[in-house]
Amino acid sequence: MKAKIIDGKAFAADIRARVAAQVASLKSDRERVPGLAVVLVGEDPASEVYVRNKGRQTKEVGMLSVEHRLPADTSEGELLALIESLNADSDIHGILVQLPLPEHLDADLVINSIDPAKDVDGFHISNVGLLGTGQKALVPCTPLGCLMLLRDHLGSLSGLDAVVVGRSNIVGKPMANLLLGDSATVTIVHSRTRDLPDVVRRADIVVAAVGRPEMITGDWIKPGATVIDVGINRVPGDSGKTRLVGDVDFASAREVAGAITPVPGGVGPMTIACLLANTLTAFCRTNGLPDPENLTA
Ligand code: GUN
Repeated sequence: MKAKIIDGKAFAADIRARVAAQVASLKSDRERVPGLAVVLVGEDPASEVYVRNKGRQTKEVGMLSVEHRLPADTSEGELLALIESLNADSDIHGILVQLPLPEHLDADLVINSIDPAKDVDGFHISNVGLLGTGQKALVPCTPLGCLMLLRDHLGSLSGLDAVVVGRSNIVGKPMANLLLGDSATVTIVHSRTRDLPDVVRRADIVVAAVGRPEMITGDWIKPGATVIDVGINRVPGDSGKTRLVGDVDFASAREVAGAITPVPGGVGPMTIACLLANTLTAFCRTNGLPDPENLTA
């Protein structure tokens, strides 16, 4: 039997609708809305597209959207001064500095200059530490989206064997911490792992985040497993065009898995939806309100 296809596009639309409803009630009750500032340094074409989409979706849910586009030769001092002013701005509840930054800028220094309460990417060292110790944090958007899809499909993750393929700070490591927080038994595998397919084959949950097109094939998957594909890779397609594929070979994996996210339309749309959820969460926490329901880890 073919795997159930997990529809991240529909789930993300549902998150945005729930965020929009809460923003609307904040607006009528308190005459205030959450604000998100996105900072883009330079002209990386992929980043331009992400930033445009973030701005559009932020406005669509009724939040304040502010964009700061700085030239590629912006100095560290100038960027830090902008972040300082956003930290102090009471209309701004979330700050996101689009990565990658130009090489002359120290990304760690820049990220750690953001007020942790406004760090809606969850990349600040304070939020990383809070997540790692099981405390209330702002959590990176892509792993948060994966967790929401897993909870929705599986209910409880307690005791399940989860394998995270990839050890990045943005996805692999926070994903592992979130799965641990839900009492899964977690293994992180990477390029140096021995017998990689055998380890993946033991998993009830596979989260693939390596950036290698279609690396994980159906014969790596335990029958009935839930497969979450974070990869977004452009590969040559028909007649000189490119096509998007994940880190999982969808055609072979769907024959074995119990459920699987497609690419596109799986994890991808969840990232911006979770960014909006995090911005709402940051607003609630700074205003002493309870966390929004079912939108946090
Ligand atoms: N570049 C690629 N993904 C991300 C992300 O999640 N956040 C930021 N700030 N930059 C990115």
